[in-house]
Amino acid sequence: MSVPRHGAQSCDVLMTTLSRMCGIIGYVGTKSAEDIVLEGLRRMEYRGYDSAGIALVAVDGLVTAKKAGKLANLEKALADQPLPPATTGLGHTRWATHGPPVDRNAHPHVSADRKAAVVHNGIIENFGALRSELERAGLELSSDTDTEVVAHLLAAAHAAQTGPDAGRLAAAMRAVCLRLEGSFSLVTVHADHPGQVVGARRNQPLVGGIGDGEYFLGSDVSAFIAHTRDALELGQDQVVTLDVEHGVTVTDFAGTPVQPKRFYVDWDAAAAEKGGYAWFMLKEIDEQPAAIADTLRGRLSETGQIVLDEVRLSDEDLRDIDKVFIVACGTANHAAMVAKYAIEHWTRLPCEVELASEFRYRDPVLDRSTLVIAISQSGETMDTLMALRHAKDQRARVLAICNTNGSTIPRESDAVLYTRAGPEVAVASTKAFLAQLAACYLVALYLAQARGTKYADEIAAIVAQLNMLPDAVADTLGRMDQVRAIGRELAKEPTILFVGRHVGYPIALEGALKLKELAYIHAEGFAAGELKHGYISLIEEGTPVVTVIPARGRNSVHSKVISNIQEMRARGAKTIVIAADGDDEVAPYADHLIYVPTTPTLLAPVLTAIPMQVLACEIADIRGLDVDQPRNLAKSVTVE
Ligand code: F6R
Repeated sequence: MSVPRHGAQSCDVLMTTLSRMCGIIGYVGTKSAEDIVLEGLRRMEYRGYDSAGIALVAVDGLVTAKKAGKLANLEKALADQPLPPATTGLGHTRWATHGPPVDRNAHPHVSADRKAAVVHNGIIENFGALRSELERAGLELSSDTDTEVVAHLLAAAHAAQTGPDAGRLAAAMRAVCLRLEGSFSLVTVHADHPGQVVGARRNQPLVGGIGDGEYFLGSDVSAFIAHTRDALELGQDQVVTLDVEHGVTVTDFAGTPVQPKRFYVDWDAAAAEKGGYAWFMLKEIDEQPAAIADTLRGRLSETGQIVLDEVRLSDEDLRDIDKVFIVACGTANHAAMVAKYAIEHWTRLPCEVELASEFRYRDPVLDRSTLVIAISQSGETMDTLMALRHAKDQRARVLAICNTNGSTIPRESDAVLYTRAGPEVAVASTKAFLAQLAACYLVALYLAQARGTKYADEIAAIVAQLNMLPDAVADTLGRMDQVRAIGRELAKEPTILFVGRHVGYPIALEGALKLKELAYIHAEGFAAGELKHGYISLIEEGTPVVTVIPARGRNSVHSKVISNIQEMRARGAKTIVIAADGDDEVAPYADHLIYVPTTPTLLAPVLTAIPMQVLACEIADIRGLDVDQPRNLAKSVTVE
């Protein structure tokens, strides 16, 4: 199918297509490809920052530049040695999988005839065999990557074509894709096709952008959001050609034309910019009241029913469910742990939470009456996607909670509730986490409604409590000077511990994760009840321990955690306590007492998570670290 060059219209509303792990961009048009590619890479650097590179199709052929380290290194190299002008090009920002992050492993990779340049996101599993084949044919490969083989295969396929496919870059790309195993999104330019960019995708994200006489490919829409909000969703096993003369053509790997779905991005470039903040993370923390309000907006219909975004399940299907699993990774897994309390309490369904990366390997007992909920900001996390596919193979129903419309996880699910947190650029998840919590409460209520375990007025009462959260979050954010001061005090500590109980336990885990990933400080989160089963040995004179006190509605747990704080203090701990307004029982045992607004117990994580985020951000900043791009990490983990 061909998409006309002009007159792009908005169709499906898409919120964000951000995900992480290598960022790739392709451009063809009339402007400077170098400027557009570099700008796109700047916006996608959160996806990976081990190295960056660019290739342009200039008048005299292909030119490339690539550098290990952050994009700034490449920009400096380009300033020292400018490339010739060109209006067709591609770029890459890498999170290393095969080979260390050094110049020679940076993308793009170029074919031996120096005609084809390729960038890649994903892993080519059979690259060893392909590499040997190329070496046997006498080629000397110049990198340790799995990607380089694609550049050589592509040039060879292009040169070998006969018949109607002769000289067609897309046909060469299709031929190569059929030989690749694993997951990939690929973008290529070729010296013989100065007005073309070709891309392909299997199990890795790739979206198209349609501008005025110019076309884009990107790992996510942030790659081209500054130029167009008209986007194309590309399906699995598809090859796309962007041609400055003929517009966009999409086919499957066999060459059959397909009609890509167009969508309009409902946020603009400003939403993915720092807007005066020192860090994206600070901006995203401040955006949390809106993220929650937007996620909750319009979820209760006029007839008092909770509504999801997409439901391909009947009420009968939902009534048949007798067990729930929630699968997710990292921070999303902590949201899942909170969701378990709400689901079990409101629906009386047994609910298990499992790290997505572990789920399928222990052969969980799943059948048609199991509901598997997958939580993912990006919608592309490979571990979560694989868990979801395993669940579907076992005939379980799958519901996705996701921040990225059009991404793979919601597309493959039976029902979807989108969080509406907007683009999350900082590697550490903040606003997406709070939006995930809000979405989890809604899903729990949706199940309670479908199964009749709560009356409509009870559901409406809880929704009313949920609707008070945006103000409570804003109130909490207004109190964070105290937390920043505590951060300054703790910035040099070698270890910080986090303790919680009930829904405070996942928040303790989240506090520890945030500190580890951002400040590189040893941090552990554990359940308060486990202290005396081992953890208390860690405490020595001055060890900081951050404890989340459960609301007083859970009296027995509340008093037990206060006893735990006393026990830790007796052994020298410096106690930092997060408690609800008016809870003064703990005051005598707290070196620092951080109050958050009072809210029903199950909803409290939405507020108690905030001091954890601010603390980690502040400590990382004081330690002079890159808050938005912590070492060794990338925003979206699209490899297992
Ligand atoms: C930590 C963080 C990660 C993600 C995890 C899952 O701050 O952001 O732990 O939560 O990689 O990512 P998604 O939600 O995209 O599946």
